[in-house]
Amino acid sequence: MTSSPIIPHSKPTLGSEEARALAAVVESGHLSQGPRVEEFERGVAAFVGTRGGVAVSSGTAAVELALVALGIGAGDEVVLPSYVCAALWLATVRVGARPRIVDIDLDTFAIDPVETEKALSPRTRAIIVPHLFGLPADLSTLQRLGVPLIEDCAQTLGAIERGRQAGSVGTATICSFYATKLLCTGEGGMLLSNDPAILDKGRALREYDQVPALEAATYNRKMTDVQAALGISQLGRLRSFLERRAAIAAYYHDALRHTGLLLPATPEGRTHIYYRYVVRLPRSREEGTSLDTLITRLEGRGVQCRHPVFRPLHRYLSLDGYPASEEAAQTALSIPIYPSMADEEVSRTAQTLCEELA
Ligand SMILES: Cc1ncc(COP(=O)(O)O)c(C=O)c1O
Repeated sequence: MTSSPIIPHSKPTLGSEEARALAAVVESGHLSQGPRVEEFERGVAAFVGTRGGVAVSSGTAAVELALVALGIGAGDEVVLPSYVCAALWLATVRVGARPRIVDIDLDTFAIDPVETEKALSPRTRAIIVPHLFGLPADLSTLQRLGVPLIEDCAQTLGAIERGRQAGSVGTATICSFYATKLLCTGEGGMLLSNDPAILDKGRALREYDQVPALEAATYNRKMTDVQAALGISQLGRLRSFLERRAAIAAYYHDALRHTGLLLPATPEGRTHIYYRYVVRLPRSREEGTSLDTLITRLEGRGVQCRHPVFRPLHRYLSLDGYPASEEAAQTALSIPIYPSMADEEVSRTAQTLCEELA
């Protein structure tokens, strides 16, 4: 066991700026959705490079809103990858559409364009494209399929795919601002788009009594000014957060290069912003539960690591035929990376991993 404090897998980076921003909201007396939400929407849209944004209560709510705003519902099909959190499947079935689950490209953990094309049918209305762990998916190839893309930027802000910002390419984009995301509001999310009709529809559906008609998909999905105040101060620090993440990733690349681990890949034409630093255990090492054993041993030595995806969808749904997602589930390990990590914590993480794999 270790005597040093445990290094958590993930942690928000909060300081006096956030404390001041929150105090100012309390003093203003305006807590619910108001001017700070609008300012946050403008700020995130400008950062990503879209015409506008609609802030909501979570990333899951943003996915649901995106689907409804695109007019997707019963009888429609939506393609999404297996190796992702359950939120995407849940939002899809909640709007009444049928999820078509496809495999990933193991090198990038992103939705596989070849498998995606095979899953298309005349009923396909959208492809949900998560940019996992900070690396954009192959947007250019997916775009050529001619189906509306919903980009999922819950884990990736500020990354580039062939000269374009991840999040600025799809028909709609969603973000999550959960406590441990790239920038956090505690809970929260946003729908982004260049299409004014989608933005208007999203605004009309995120709260009741906005339009003089009752539409069942309307719900209370609002973000508060308290959350938005946090988000505005975090957004102001996002570039420096990304610089710190890049520096930690560079240290890990160097320190872990002789461990036999498969380190994160960045294909040509894309940049990685390292929301997560995800390595894979080589098959020669991995047997049975040895990934879980490694996680337990690392935690015992003060370094909290995690499976980067809790449970792939094909496992939840007992589906066969997802070899890359299954391989990722069995071999991928997410090690601590966040802007507030001290240099000593970064080097201790790498050192502990090297010793465990020696
Ligand atoms: C890729 C991805 N999409 C969507 C979501 C859902 O976001 P939220 O937890 O804010 O509902 C998450 C959350 O972790 C995520 O990682």
